[in-house]
Amino acid sequence: MRNYLLAAGVAGALFGSAAFVLAQPMGGGPGWGGGPGMMGPRGGMGPGGGMGPGGGMGYSPRRPYAMHGGLPDAYARAANPLPRNRATIERGARVYAANCASCHGKTGRGDGEAAKDLNPPPANLAWLADTRVGQWDPYMFWTVSEGGAQFNTAMPAFKETLPKEDIWSAIAYIQAQLPDVANK
Ligand code: HEC
Repeated sequence: MRNYLLAAGVAGALFGSAAFVLAQPMGGGPGWGGGPGMMGPRGGMGPGGGMGPGGGMGYSPRRPYAMHGGLPDAYARAANPLPRNRATIERGARVYAANCASCHGKTGRGDGEAAKDLNPPPANLAWLADTRVGQWDPYMFWTVSEGGAQFNTAMPAFKETLPKEDIWSAIAYIQAQLPDVANK
């Protein structure tokens, strides 16, 4: 009986870690234990989810919201129409520098000049790029298009102010880890 329990415990531990690995097909990011489709009680994210080294992450209510089916239908199947090439990344870098860097910072770490007094603070996009949710096009397109009004955050809605292709190029640029390209 004791051996049986011990074996079950070991199997449980092994299964637990296997599930953890399976949940991170993109390599995951520090502090990221879930992903779209991980519908555990906390979706793998506790309050403070997204704590990476370097801090400045804050708690974004939008991730649990999106993971629990909150993405509006109009965004649920959105896909980037632009080719993932250098031209797209360079365009994205320009869009980012002009519209996003003031809050999210030049390198995406959430440390722009306009970030100081914001609560929640601007997300660390450099960190986000390494996570499954950051590579999830519908989530990114919804976030940048609709902004943070519904969560009472300072994230602006860009659907009226930027052409769709600009939004998508900025997303591709973030997903490529905000490389330091020429002509920014
Ligand atoms: C006025 C400041 C401000 C500007 C400008 C801004 N953001 Fe944000 N952004 C925020 C804040 C604050 C948050 C965190 C709260 C939230 O998620 O709504 C955020 C969150 C995000 C997220 C969600 C990240 C996550 O952790 O899930 C993405 C993606 C994002 N911004 C992209 C952009 C892009 C792309 C631009 C430019 C086109 C931009 N932001 C411009 C303030 C800003």
